[in-house]
Amino acid sequence: MRYKTLCFGFFFIFLAYQTYIPIPENVEEPWKVRVIHAGMKISALMGTLLENMGLMKFEEFFAILMEAQNTKPVSDENITVIDTDFSDIPVRLYLPKRKSEKQRPAVIYIHGGAYILGSFKMLPYDSVNRWTSNKLDAVVMAPDYRLAPQHLFPAALEDCIFVIKFFLQDKVLAKYGVDPTRICISGDSSGGTLAATVTQLLQDDPDYKNKIKAQTLLYPALQALDTLMPSHREYKHGPFLTREVAIRLTCLYLSEDKELPKTILRNAHVPQESRHLFKFVNWSDFLPEKYKKNHVYTMPVLGNLNASHPGLVDSRASPLLVNDSQLQKLPLTYILTCEHDILRDDGLIYVTRLRKVGVPIIHDHVEDGVHGAISFATAPFYLNLGLRLIDKYIICLKENL
Ligand SMILES: *[C@@H]1O[C@H](CO)[C@@H](O)[C@H](O)[C@H]1NC(C)=O
Ligand SMILES: *[C@@H]1O[C@H](CO)[C@@H](O)[C@H](O)[C@H]1NC(C)=O
Ligand SMILES: *[C@@H]1O[C@H](CO)[C@@H](O)[C@H](O)[C@H]1NC(C)=O
Ligand SMILES: *[C@@H]1O[C@H](CO)[C@@H](O)[C@H](O)[C@H]1NC(C)=O
Repeated sequence: MRYKTLCFGFFFIFLAYQTYIPIPENVEEPWKVRVIHAGMKISALMGTLLENMGLMKFEEFFAILMEAQNTKPVSDENITVIDTDFSDIPVRLYLPKRKSEKQRPAVIYIHGGAYILGSFKMLPYDSVNRWTSNKLDAVVMAPDYRLAPQHLFPAALEDCIFVIKFFLQDKVLAKYGVDPTRICISGDSSGGTLAATVTQLLQDDPDYKNKIKAQTLLYPALQALDTLMPSHREYKHGPFLTREVAIRLTCLYLSEDKELPKTILRNAHVPQESRHLFKFVNWSDFLPEKYKKNHVYTMPVLGNLNASHPGLVDSRASPLLVNDSQLQKLPLTYILTCEHDILRDDGLIYVTRLRKVGVPIIHDHVEDGVHGAISFATAPFYLNLGLRLIDKYIICLKENL
């Protein structure tokens, strides 16, 4: 009996130690943030444990947790919600019911989840898209795309491009009453990476040039070259997204190589012949002084990886890796960055680079923001921070689309 109590005691001390982080002082509803963070830490531990026991893969365990949040397409008094396919790719459509003389704007929303997880079906995404459709009287189209590790880079991107081109056909836009001059592409986290990349590629394609009026990127990941920027250092333990989990999951999209995460954790993954790309992500050049604090720029240690990881240095996985003349062509861009986020500096650097070449930019930096907060804005957490971020996003769309 005593032995068992002792074991339990140690287990909880271990758990408390593993999940404890000092929650930033300025964060709203700190106890909720603490509970969510602990939940994510425990899930990561359980996932690791199950994988080591050979019962299931780390990412499979996370996928089960995500699937539990899936919703059915439910229409309400104002909008019809349907799940359908655009040429084999599943999409959920939100179609306003009100009669309208005018054509409507459209928002394409690409969900996040590190290319491994998630779906438009998840309650938080379904809610964001429903609110967007309702408040903007807009058509919202949310695609799913093939996920890693079953489908490696660039499968997710290919699906997004394909389904968006399908939607942009004149006859499809006409069918849903969409105004072809008022279309926006949005996404959060890795969905923001996909949104940014799709927007770049469409703008480079003579058939689709200038078809997108705006892109809205919510705490996007925009590069995989330097994983030791000031934000990676300051927020490596979260809250929510830790550097280790982010790298571990993203690697599953980029490569089958099990050693890759370790190399990236050391920031020694860029091959010599790609060293010229560092100038596109040099935080010493592009980060506003305020965020540099006492951090000293050192060029990442160059690795001896070779072409077996092409995604690592490809602008289709790291949209920051394109030059200024390509950036110049981009449409109005909204970027939301959160202070407490390893990906903060990706967003801040994109803001600087786009401003420099004259792209119209709207930037919201949320001082008490935490990465992924939107995913906790609905039941059971109702995290107020998430609701605030969604409000900012919808207000920006309302004013600019
Ligand atoms: C439907 O639209 C009305 C008027 O804009 C609004 O008051 C109501 O809350 C909307 N319903 C839902 C379920 O969002
Ligand atoms: C990064 O920027 C700093 C400051 O402008 C500069 O000294 C350094 O050489 C740059 N490094 C690379 C790899 O571009
Ligand atoms: C890439 O690296 C791997 C492992 O180090 C090696 O087996 C392979 O031959 C290399 N390929 C090329 C094209 O250099
Ligand atoms: C920018 O990149 C594009 C595509 O790689 C290339 O065609 C173009 O020449 C580059 N422009 C400059 C100024 O380097």
